[in-house]
Amino acid sequence: MDALRIASALLLAATAVGERNDAMHLMQYTAESNLAAEDDDDRCRLWCIGDAKKTWEQKCGYRACRGCAACNLQKVVSTPLQPGILTTPSSTGTMQLYDTIIEEVGSLIQSLPDTCDYQECPRGELAGCILRIAGADIQDYKDGRGGMDGCVNPADVGLWECLHYGTHGVRLASVWDKHNGELSFADFLVISAEAVMTNRRGDLQPPFPFRSHFRFGRTTTEDCSWSYKAALAQPWEGCNGVRRVFMGQLGLSVRGSSALMGVHTIGRARSEYSGWNGYWSAPEQSSRFNNNYYLSLLLKGWAPGRSPNGRNQWNHVGSGTERGKPQMMLDSDMCLAYGDEVSDSSVQDCCAWIMPDAFDAINASIPDGGNKAVDRLNEQTQNGRQWCGTTFPNEIDDVKQESFEHIRDWCCVSGTRGPDVDCGNPRALKGMAAAHILEFANDEAAWIAEFQKSWTHVTEIGSEHQLFTPA
Ligand code: HEM
Repeated sequence: MDALRIASALLLAATAVGERNDAMHLMQYTAESNLAAEDDDDRCRLWCIGDAKKTWEQKCGYRACRGCAACNLQKVVSTPLQPGILTTPSSTGTMQLYDTIIEEVGSLIQSLPDTCDYQECPRGELAGCILRIAGADIQDYKDGRGGMDGCVNPADVGLWECLHYGTHGVRLASVWDKHNGELSFADFLVISAEAVMTNRRGDLQPPFPFRSHFRFGRTTTEDCSWSYKAALAQPWEGCNGVRRVFMGQLGLSVRGSSALMGVHTIGRARSEYSGWNGYWSAPEQSSRFNNNYYLSLLLKGWAPGRSPNGRNQWNHVGSGTERGKPQMMLDSDMCLAYGDEVSDSSVQDCCAWIMPDAFDAINASIPDGGNKAVDRLNEQTQNGRQWCGTTFPNEIDDVKQESFEHIRDWCCVSGTRGPDVDCGNPRALKGMAAAHILEFANDEAAWIAEFQKSWTHVTEIGSEHQLFTPA
């Protein structure tokens, strides 16, 4: 689908640390040929391409056409980004600058309405797209190249839209425009991601300790062509992608990888961007940075399905599900907890759910984890003590008293019905990160501690030698 050709990745002449080059655009792209004719990707509805009566300018105003290459090209070309300085010098890389950017990005989020439903969730959406930019930049690290260097592939639909045009009219570039003479774009992307996570965590305890760990000094890469060829982990790779990129290229452990994946609590997948569709949990949870991703993986039923664009994903089934209210997981999320039985939604046909006994695997460190997880979910949703969308009749009920058939019914049969076969044994999870997922669902502090370690590692890898702690 990519009808873009890199005409000139970066033509900056001044590359010395701290030097600024306002004259050049960070990147310039050009069309190889007729974009509209070439674009047949499923993130771009067919009528966008076929409707010859409307101009691309008009068509790009429609949500269904936003994923078309022609629209991306117009956006990128019409809204160039100033490269600013390439490496932050210690004279400007101060804690004060860090705090200012945290506050300004936080204000962007706060300027949006605090509503959140299946139609839209403005604060969560902006936070999601900013955090995903960092997620994409991180993943191209390999053998000493790439990583957090400011290279974000415009073919990865949704990322540049967020940066340039923003979400609900709010642009991350508006903050960058103010500070591009003080820090590198690469450092800016890390601080912006920390800003959205901090903002979306709000007063929840414990807080993220990002501030005390942050170091400046990443260099913005001038020629991103190598980065654009990097193969990021793809949902259909399941845990192989996690092993290849998170563990192989980035050097994270299984525990560290599954802690990092908790970012999918924030935001959602969209048909018009990636082609996958839905929230990883209920919409209001997608706007808070908590451990709800792990609770959602475990305390809901999941069955293979398709997004409206035909992408294979795991859809929420069982009680509490309603038509037109998509909650989904990717193969790469599910396999962490459930293992090989759920690593390929294109061919597997089973219902993924757990009995409370699955928490016995961590009983030594967290006794009675099943009941604690139910309490944790109740604190977050205020919906009462629920397992697979069913509320216990009264507060003191023990989920362990419920029969296998009852709980299976809640998770896989009531509401939207899932397959009759279970994915593996609901009493014992087999995923490579199962024990960690069970723990993170119960112990938010443990997740935050591990997340911080992974985050610092993946945002610093490759640049360690030049990073410095701000004054
Ligand atoms: C195996 C690794 C990963 C896979 C397969 C993956 C896949 C995806 C996909 C398909 C989407 C939907 C995009 C859209 O339609 O807008 C998405 C969204 C998202 N991803 Fe990932 N991702 C991975 C790792 C990461 C990492 C490492 C981060 C950040 C550190 C991240 C942060 C996000 C966020 C915040 C969103 C929500 C975006 C929004 O709401 O606009 N992901 N991811």
